[in-house]
Amino acid sequence: MSTSYRDDPEAIQALVQPDRVHRDLYIDPDLFALEQEHFFANTWNYVGHDSQLPKPGDYIRNEIAGQPLIVVRHQDDTIRVLMNRCAHKGSRLVSAPSGNTGKHFRCPYHAWTFRTDGSLLNMPLKNGYDGTAVHECESGKGLVAVKNVRVYRGFIFARINDAGPGFEEYFGESLSSIDNMADRSPEGRLEIAGGCLRFLHQCNWKMFVENLNDTMHPMVVHESSAGTAKRMWADKPADLAKPMAIEQFTPFMSDYKFFEDMGVRVFDNGHSFSGVHFSIHSKYSAMPAYDAAMKAAYGEERTARILGLARHNTVYYPNLTIKGAIQAIRVVKPIAVDKTLVESWTFRLAGAPPEMLQRTAMYSRLINSPFSVVGHDDLQAYRGIQAGLHASGNPWVSLHRNFDPAEIGERDLTTVGTSEISMRNQYRAWARYMTMAMGAGR
Ligand code: FES
Ligand SMILES: [Fe+2]
Repeated sequence: MSTSYRDDPEAIQALVQPDRVHRDLYIDPDLFALEQEHFFANTWNYVGHDSQLPKPGDYIRNEIAGQPLIVVRHQDDTIRVLMNRCAHKGSRLVSAPSGNTGKHFRCPYHAWTFRTDGSLLNMPLKNGYDGTAVHECESGKGLVAVKNVRVYRGFIFARINDAGPGFEEYFGESLSSIDNMADRSPEGRLEIAGGCLRFLHQCNWKMFVENLNDTMHPMVVHESSAGTAKRMWADKPADLAKPMAIEQFTPFMSDYKFFEDMGVRVFDNGHSFSGVHFSIHSKYSAMPAYDAAMKAAYGEERTARILGLARHNTVYYPNLTIKGAIQAIRVVKPIAVDKTLVESWTFRLAGAPPEMLQRTAMYSRLINSPFSVVGHDDLQAYRGIQAGLHASGNPWVSLHRNFDPAEIGERDLTTVGTSEISMRNQYRAWARYMTMAMGAGR
């Protein structure tokens, strides 16, 4: 790699061809820096869940692509996203991962104070500013507030740049996966349960995200973990109830036909889910108390419709991936070109019996956590790609599987589950949002 991509949107767009992408997307530190500056600022990113902020003054600290943020419930009960940067000399305002700040934030350096909508409340020895221009400039206006914030069924999203597509336009019909996850609560409400499981990956963030709907890998990569679980259970009578862990591990070893038939659906702007018709989550054993609570809340027919959707992973491009059927999410935080933090959160379905949370918590530990044997299979694959892509001779990553030129420009498309369409779709969105503010975008 020797090209400089800065201010060269055409060179960036040339990295994404209809059926393959250039390796620089994964290994070039300059491109990574440009992603931080452009791509993530132009897209809608998940920054938290409103169940983390039940009372005014409650906040969580977060970031989008290195930009420090505070997500806070303001006194009027609305949720605000503010830059975690003091208007005076730039100190971070809050350092704790979460807390309650009361009615204002107080800077730990010189004690300027700001209301929870970011406006400047006070500064010590105020008369020292008499006759100065402080109130006419950025510093006198208070904290920078992110203008584009949207709470959807409790999920908080923000777009840093002022210009760009609206929330509904950006996510479109893909929001039906969040709806299904929330509808699985008899009260239609989700609550984050417990803390976050953080799993550091030695790979580019895009490898993780594209793997979520890569259905050609589980039966290969997870042979050592899920395959072992399957063998352990192989000689048991068919009618013997499976332990929860066996029930969660073994579907990863389903055959190619299973994954092909389950289907994948892609949406404009990089979003997708696999498991259109069924998924690895479809065959979990019934929980009678939960079924009863659902039927009491929604009636027989609607309950069947809600629970009949058992989608696998839905990718809300770029940083949120959800498993609605098991109420677990993973949030992607790019740290360096070859380093990505994956945060895993577990949800309680409000109004559901405790065994539902038990099942979700077990899934998060078994599959998504840094202690997961399944997760380490994937990690090993990502490390292998990150190293292998440095080889010379072929700078391209193939995404040709089931490519059809007619798919380009489609806003909503369903096809066979083993297609690489979800990845091609992600990279088309990547090129668009990387370059849109460079003057060559849509
Ligand atoms: S840096 Fe915040 S008050 Fe000085
Ligand atoms: Fe995997």
